Amino acid sequence: MKARGPNRRDVCAGLGAAALSGFSLRPRAAFAQDNPDNCAPPGVAGKNPVAYKPDPNLPVRMRKSAFELSKTEVDRLKEAYAALRKLTHDTPDDPRGWLRGGYVHCWYCGGGNDNQAGEEIHGSWLFFPWHRAYLHFHERILCKLINDDTLAIPYWDWDSEGRQKFPSIYGDPSDPSNPLFDMLRSAKASDAISDQAVSAAILNTTMNAPNNNLFLGSQAGDAGAMENAPHGPVHIWTGDTTMQNGNNDMGVLATAAQDPLFFAHHGNIDRLWGVWLDLAPAQHKNFTSATWTQHPWQFYDENAVWTEIKIADVLDTVKSLRSEYAKPSAKPIWTFRPRSRPATVAAAAESLVAAASFSMTNATAAPIALGVAPVTREIAIPQEEMHALAQLGPTSPAQYVLYIRGIETPNDGQAIFNVFLNLPDATAATSTESPNFVGAVTVLAKTKSPIARTPVTTNAAFDVTDLLSKLKGVENLSVTLAPTAAGGIAPRASQATFRQISLERF
Ligand code: C2O
Repeated sequence: MKARGPNRRDVCAGLGAAALSGFSLRPRAAFAQDNPDNCAPPGVAGKNPVAYKPDPNLPVRMRKSAFELSKTEVDRLKEAYAALRKLTHDTPDDPRGWLRGGYVHCWYCGGGNDNQAGEEIHGSWLFFPWHRAYLHFHERILCKLINDDTLAIPYWDWDSEGRQKFPSIYGDPSDPSNPLFDMLRSAKASDAISDQAVSAAILNTTMNAPNNNLFLGSQAGDAGAMENAPHGPVHIWTGDTTMQNGNNDMGVLATAAQDPLFFAHHGNIDRLWGVWLDLAPAQHKNFTSATWTQHPWQFYDENAVWTEIKIADVLDTVKSLRSEYAKPSAKPIWTFRPRSRPATVAAAAESLVAAASFSMTNATAAPIALGVAPVTREIAIPQEEMHALAQLGPTSPAQYVLYIRGIETPNDGQAIFNVFLNLPDATAATSTESPNFVGAVTVLAKTKSPIARTPVTTNAAFDVTDLLSKLKGVENLSVTLAPTAAGGIAPRASQATFRQISLERF
């Protein structure tokens, strides 16, 4: 254990104790564990996991919008999270408790300060299914603790009209008497979220991602559009709404799942996976390769049984997991634009990277710094491609994908940047509603303090076919990366770098 100076949590602990009612917890033990050293699952050495088995006798748990819960449902949810925190307080090593449960996310996303970590499940095609499995075990543990198999975690539908604000149940009251509250969070009950984190344009880009590589993320290590945004910016905004003050729980992967809001945020991401699949069943598909469907992870289940679950086990949520999502009563702020391009484009989806027929690249061997100011790079378009681009229309079979590769920040660094085509004067304040907006890229900090470990490199990929068809006739293409924070201001600091921008035609 490293010695650390007093942190904000220590200071808060004394204040919170008096406010705590209904269950006897010392807040520091059950609300405050900054900067984990070791987040390995306890007691698993030599243990053989038991294969996950659906229980058809369980009722189907109905997950609802956090804005649509009845008073009774809110009380029951609070009771469950109070029990989860109490478990950590009473039996710190119980793997199901609030803190140990939160460490599971730390373990799978870079690990603790001791440099030990499990498989990395961010920045690739593992992102959606891993989080679905994680939500499942978390929810079943909550059910078990209050002995109610119908308890379901709510979702924060930041994509529904009128819900671009912090769901108040998680912050009202904003003190440790509310088990849904988190001490290291700057968003307050009902705060409006920045439109650089959630906007119709960001959601349009994400929900219209045309295939699984671009929406879910790829085997090759490209983060999907959803993981980039709104997933990333909502994390950062919740932890530090102005991005000027540094990293808090939700803004750091190692601690994000210590905030109960994590599960409502990921509930919505998980719900939108199903929504996206249903929008265009012929093009929007899950991967079918066995490398994906048979991929296993281990979790402690609600009875503290070390359990192995495969991606194939999480695909049919009702049958296998016994949970589903109630449609929100408010309409989405995004719109689906059906494409009339031939299905061949979608058929190539799983081998998108291999299928590139040409690429126009602006690459350097050395990382290009992306600080707090915008960076613009030109891509010269070959003569033959100019012709193809000029012909581009809504039914052209070609698909153009813009890649930004080799994105990196130090382990304790974070970044959000918006990507624009042919808008070299774009800044942090340029609206994502600009017609030249391509999409947003987010890198979340893995740890709160710097650790000596090689950072993980990620890539982002966006379909720009429609945008290019509107920019017809351009000889040069410029790509601008504009670092941003809440309210259109630049972040306080950034040490992000990237290595390559390329446009590829499929
Ligand atoms: Cu595993 Cu929202 O991060």
